[in-house]
Parts: sequence; C-alpha cells; structure tokens
Amino acid sequence: MNHAQNFATPPETMTRLPTGQCADAVNPTGHPSGQSLRESVLGLLPLRSPRVLGGLTDGLRAHWLVRGMHPCEVTVVRRNTYPQTNLLVFRLQRGTWAVLVKHPRNERAADGLAREWEVLRQLAADDRLEPWRQLLPQPVGYRPDGPARMLAQSWLAGVPADHLVPHRPQDLQRTVTAALSFLAELRRANGHRQPAAERVGEWAEPQLQILSSEIGWCRTAAGAEGLEALRRRLDAGLAGAVLTQAWTHGDFHPGNVLLNEERTRVTGVYDWGSARMDGPSEIDACTFVLTVRQALSGRPLGRLVADALRGDGLAAADRALLSTAAVDPDGGDPAVLPLLTWLWHVSSNVRKAPQFGRSRWWVAHTVAPVLEEVSRWASARR
Ligand SMILES: Nc1ncnc2c1ncn2[C@@H]1O[C@H](COP(=O)(O)OP(=O)(O)OP(=O)(O)O)[C@@H](O)[C@H]1O
Ligand SMILES: [Mg+2]
Repeated sequence: MNHAQNFATPPETMTRLPTGQCADAVNPTGHPSGQSLRESVLGLLPLRSPRVLGGLTDGLRAHWLVRGMHPCEVTVVRRNTYPQTNLLVFRLQRGTWAVLVKHPRNERAADGLAREWEVLRQLAADDRLEPWRQLLPQPVGYRPDGPARMLAQSWLAGVPADHLVPHRPQDLQRTVTAALSFLAELRRANGHRQPAAERVGEWAEPQLQILSSEIGWCRTAAGAEGLEALRRRLDAGLAGAVLTQAWTHGDFHPGNVLLNEERTRVTGVYDWGSARMDGPSEIDACTFVLTVRQALSGRPLGRLVADALRGDGLAAADRALLSTAAVDPDGGDPAVLPLLTWLWHVSSNVRKAPQFGRSRWWVAHTVAPVLEEVSRWASARR
C-alpha cells in the first residue's frame, strides 16, 4: 500500500537524579469584568505564545533547578506551544547519560506532571511492554512539591516524525508505516477486544465533562447543544462498537514520535501524560492519520473531523491506511472513531493547557466545526 500517495493526494522522591464566541460564556452577564475583558483579548491572540525573554530566563531557571547536582550540561527544549509555556523542559546530560526534565510553571502543569509520573510508573511495571522498553521513557525521578518541583525521565533519541516534507513521499510513506505498525504490534501485545458500550463511562463521559468545564464556548447555547448531540451520537455509536482495550497514548501525533534516520521504525514515543492502560487504543492510529493529514493539508483537525461527519466517515485513503494498521473504522457508525479520537485530542489539550479553551481561534477551528456538524446531524434526524 502506498501510504505516501494516499497522503499526497488531497491536499524526596526525586531520589534518582544524580545528587551532586468564547468570552460571552465566560461572562454571561455581558458586562465585561476586568478579567473577562482580558480573557477576550487573550482569546484573539494566536496560539503560539512568544516568550521574548523566555530563552534567557528559562536557561537561568533550569540551572537553578539543578543546583547542587553533579555538574551537567543543561539544554532547554524550546517549543512555543501553550503546553510548553506551562512547562519548562530541558535536557540534562553528562557523558552518555541524559534525562529529560519537566518543571511546571503553574498548578495545572503540576497536575499534568503528577498524571504523567503515574503513567510512566505503570508503563515501567508492565511486563507485556518489554519488547518496546527502549522506546518508552523510563521514570527517573519526581519531586512533586516545592519551588523546584520536577519530573525526570529517560532521554529518547531519534528523528522527530513531525519533520514531514510533502515533496518527499518516500519519507512520508515510511513515517506513516512505521508509526502505524508500532501501534498495531503494541495493541496486539496488550489489548483485547471489548464491547465499547461497557466503557462509555470511561471512554467518553469524562472527556465530555472536560470540554464542558474548560471551553467557555461549550457552555453557550450552540456549544451546549453540540455537546449534547455529540454525547447522544457517541452513546448510540459506541453501543454497537467493539474496540480494543489496551494501552492508549491519547495524543499520538507525529510531534510525540521519534524515528530512526531511515524512518523505517519508531525509536521513541513521549508525552504519556494523557495515556491510560485500558483506553480505546484504535484512537491512537486515527490520531496519527488525522494529524499527518492536518500537517499536509493545513486544514485544522476540527474541519477534517467535520468533513468525516458530513461524508460517510473518514476519507477513503485514510480508511485504507487504518485498515493496514488492523483498525476497522467502518464497523457500525463510521463517525464514531473520528469523533472519539477528536474528543480525546481536544480534552487532552484543554486539560493540559486551559489557554486552548480560551482561544477563539482554536475553538473556531478545532471545536466548533465538529459540534456544529453533530448538531446539524441531530436536528436532521428529529
Ligand atoms: N523522553 C524524552 N526524550 C527526549 N525528548 C523529550 C522527551 N520528552 C519530551 N521531550 C521533548 O520535549 C518536548 C515537550 O515534551 P512533551 O511533548 O512531553 O510535552 P507537551 O506538554 O506535550 O508539549 P508540546 O505540546 O509542546 O509537545 C517534546 O516535544 C520533545 O521535544
Ligand atoms: Mg508533546
């Protein structure tokens, strides 16, 4: 199967470190308070959050955080996304020893690190994952309290899979094949097929609650109606679906995957804070396919998923890719897999970084198109 062609066509526990439409919902009265005015203005800003002096202060802070440890080389990992501005991320290296350290800048990020630490420990304790041990970050140390709280995990090396160049179809094909094969093997090793109806309370309801609490627009009339329509459609669709309960990363996009130079195999997967060992694992493959499609087409995820709802599920090329990864997107309601995938992606993002939920741009491109489309579908059936 030529994956590339398909994509090219449409557009002191820290012991182990070495010692030594949105604003209206926020303020339903319509009288902007100082805070809601500020949030309205913030909602218009682009998603990237440039930190002008960030580079300098991040370096200083990282050195301060590791003071007292054996001398190490400190390298700040720079990314200007919202989650990244909530976290300071840096590499500590001494010779061949290297770890990745995350320091939370606020309480939300600290909660995220507590979840990530728990997941890393569960991954490390799971013998079924032995063949992939080197590809998963090992928990190294966690200091949950105090101004120098941080989490350290083993450093994974490789070529980031999000360095996608559309005019190099060979690379693209290998990237997608490697990522989907990795997922298929992992799923085979630790999953079992499960009627999804029995898992709605875990696989959909908490995520819907997160959207409702974190995204102001989801509490407006249109947003709440869309959310309710989504709940009903997922309830009905999952009632007839069978999915594989297994380790589910929850945000398996190319930015969280590393490959070897030849792009023939996965060498690392990080960012496990949204993972769970008993999730609907097919969503990881669907996330990868949709986010690669997003990167190539420039079309936001919400619009891609809304397209899938308008049509009869995902585009044929994407369905073909998923079936090569042993994922059947067509059993029952073909909208269920893209909807569930989208729901996990969005809830994971807003839980990690509430700024997403306040961004008018993000809500308009990622959230509203899907909820409006589900509402239309529900009204047409009344
Ligand atoms: N174990 C690791 N080994 C090597 N690099 C890592 C590791 N974990 C994280 N990183 C680097 O740090 C960056 C941010 O980490 P992570 O993806 O876990 O956080 P995030 O909150 O999702 O941020 P973002 O949204 O910017 O990806 C990654 O994109 C990667 O460059
Ligand atoms: Mg990430």
